[in-house]
Amino acid sequence: MLDVKLFQMETFLSEPYEDTLAPQLKSAHERLQDGSGLGGDFTGWVHLPRDYDKAEFARIKAAAAKIQKNSQALVVIGIGGSYLGARGVIDCLCSPNYNLKKKSTPNVYFMGNGLSADAMQEVLDLLEGVDFSVNVISKSGTTTEPAVAFRFFRDALEKKYGKAGAKGRIYATTDKARGALKSLANEEGWESFVVPDGVGGRYSVLTAVGLLPIAVAGIGIEELMGGAAKMMKLCETASYENPAWTYAALRDALYQKGWSIEVLACYDPAFRFMLEWWKQLYGESEGKDGKGLFPASVEFTADLHSMGQYMQDGTRNIFETVVRLGASEHQLYVPRDEDDGDGLNFLAGKPMDFIRDRAMEGTLLAHTEGGVPNLIVEAGGKDAKSLGQLIYFFEYACGLSGYLLEVNPFDQPGVEAYKKNMFALLGKPGYEDRKAELEAKLKK
Ligand code: PA5
Repeated sequence: MLDVKLFQMETFLSEPYEDTLAPQLKSAHERLQDGSGLGGDFTGWVHLPRDYDKAEFARIKAAAAKIQKNSQALVVIGIGGSYLGARGVIDCLCSPNYNLKKKSTPNVYFMGNGLSADAMQEVLDLLEGVDFSVNVISKSGTTTEPAVAFRFFRDALEKKYGKAGAKGRIYATTDKARGALKSLANEEGWESFVVPDGVGGRYSVLTAVGLLPIAVAGIGIEELMGGAAKMMKLCETASYENPAWTYAALRDALYQKGWSIEVLACYDPAFRFMLEWWKQLYGESEGKDGKGLFPASVEFTADLHSMGQYMQDGTRNIFETVVRLGASEHQLYVPRDEDDGDGLNFLAGKPMDFIRDRAMEGTLLAHTEGGVPNLIVEAGGKDAKSLGQLIYFFEYACGLSGYLLEVNPFDQPGVEAYKKNMFALLGKPGYEDRKAELEAKLKK
């Protein structure tokens, strides 16, 4: 089972932080469990692994099977919470090279998560001569990036299959009643999946938002949900037996002592988009009202040769949380070379995991001695069940952390600022005054 600890705790936290924080954690925990805290309407994810819509789950599996049968590619259109979870899970469990692998499941392309014409054209080109489907995901149904991308891919589908043919290849994941995407889906008769009312974007990977693309890639979504349900049970415990309590308490205690940047690290490149998912989860949930840890990420050992210098020696406001995924699926042994020109024969016959683990221990000791507290999250294996547990663990700890900071962990008012400016500068009706004002500012 997942475990969290702070290495050489006494060096960094000599005070009894557990006792000090227990009353606040208990209160945060109760507010999450009964939805009575700030943003309580958005705590539907707390019991989701138990209460999810079983009929919709069956429809997700049926839609995934249909896509696997009639498509060589699925274009998943979404941004932020409507994108990162699915990408994180697919990369982690199938590989970042998933699309390049020989396999019986469709390629998955993630689009609508930016505004690059080149990125869009590249995927449109890759789809030439390829049977494909589209899963457009937006809870609000009004986000600009995915809405623009959907125009292009819907157009490509309709050109290829005709309007009627395209209809059976478009899957819309959105609010159950509101928003432009829901209206379009109703009018056009596209199969729709629901982002439940009480689940915000960044907490939605275990809804159709994440589950449909994940299932299309051939990952067992029952196992993923099973892992999450197991962690949900554990997280119902109102004590430090709950690993989310330990994680939330440690990061809060470190934050209070001036460590204001948390760097999430992993020694497996397949975890890269899980790091991105975590950054969004914590960044959008905590960073408000002038408060919050800054979430950053590194991929080790690659980033030991870039960010490693700063982490060892730079401003001392960073702590590190290392996710350990356990043994690799493949054991590769270093070949012996008779000439030993590179002097590496001392490693001949050793498995890659042995080398990685020594790098991990060496880094742990070096960074700790350099004044960087190291939290270790033992996540178990790189499988759907363990990842389901890890996802729920991070979500629950994030909710707790937000309440410890006394912020609303479920809104994102700061994201609106750029959107308003962008709409004004694009000439969206209703933003005329702001447009003139902003254009004048840009000329200065
Ligand atoms: O966590 C959030 O709510 C956001 O990151 C959203 O997921 C993101 O802005 C996309 O929103 P939508 O799904 O409404 O298009």
